[in-house]
Amino acid sequence: METDVKNKYLEAGRIGREALEYAQTLIEPGTLFIDVAEKAEQFIRNQGGKPSFPVNLSINNEAAHYTPSFGDTKTFKTGDVVKVDIGAQVDGYLSDNAATVEVGESGKHSDLIDCTREALNAALKVLRPMIAVRRIGAEIEKVVSSFGFKPVRNLGGHGINRYDLHSSIFIPNYDDGNASMIKPDSVIAIEPFASSGIGMIHNGPGGNIYILSGTKIDREEEIYKNFNTIPFAERWLASVDPNYRKYLKKMMFRREVSHFAILREHSGAFISQAEHTIIVLSDDIIVTTRK
Ligand code: CO
Repeated sequence: METDVKNKYLEAGRIGREALEYAQTLIEPGTLFIDVAEKAEQFIRNQGGKPSFPVNLSINNEAAHYTPSFGDTKTFKTGDVVKVDIGAQVDGYLSDNAATVEVGESGKHSDLIDCTREALNAALKVLRPMIAVRRIGAEIEKVVSSFGFKPVRNLGGHGINRYDLHSSIFIPNYDDGNASMIKPDSVIAIEPFASSGIGMIHNGPGGNIYILSGTKIDREEEIYKNFNTIPFAERWLASVDPNYRKYLKKMMFRREVSHFAILREHSGAFISQAEHTIIVLSDDIIVTTRK
């Protein structure tokens, strides 16, 4: 990997990690979701990056893909299990990292929260170039099961490319038998999800996160210039078009954008998540989102 490219990934990783740490300090009973999301996104911009995607604040049985909408009045409550998922990009080189916090720290969900953090550490210990993705999944499954929880089977880690948050490779949270290997000089995100229920998620309603569809990235409109292939929030469109709700509706009708569904645990149980971004070199492993 070229030094210049590596340095941009490292900078994106640093900004993403600091934004995630900062966001967690803001989460308290009574805090508005939108304040946490917007402050963390502004933090990324102040550091010279751009968000890789809207800050995800998913609670309790939601695994991912909720970001507050413009004027959102939702607040955090004591006992909420919050997955904070944040990434930064520098010149299109992305980071993606996540942590789980319990609001008000009653300690009721500490085991569930600890199990994904420990599963992620265990996965990072076995990670090396040319390892089969099933081996990483097996490691995650072993740790999550030892805590008495279930890994989420239909969610997992992913490859990352320039301006592409979810490139082809899928890294399971259990041994799914997939022998595909992690190639040297690749960038990946490993993200264990654990559940206190059956360990499957399904699509819920939309969570205010969108992405342009198709390959029309050469179009001239502001929206294409601004958001290109990166997921964006409904509230970010205010800067593109003051009538953005109508505009978005029209885009949806023409199938020019798609709306991400909130991912929910199938049995309604609690979910925790932990995530890091890693550069896999032929002779080294660099976790870009870890100090
Ligand atoms: Co990810």
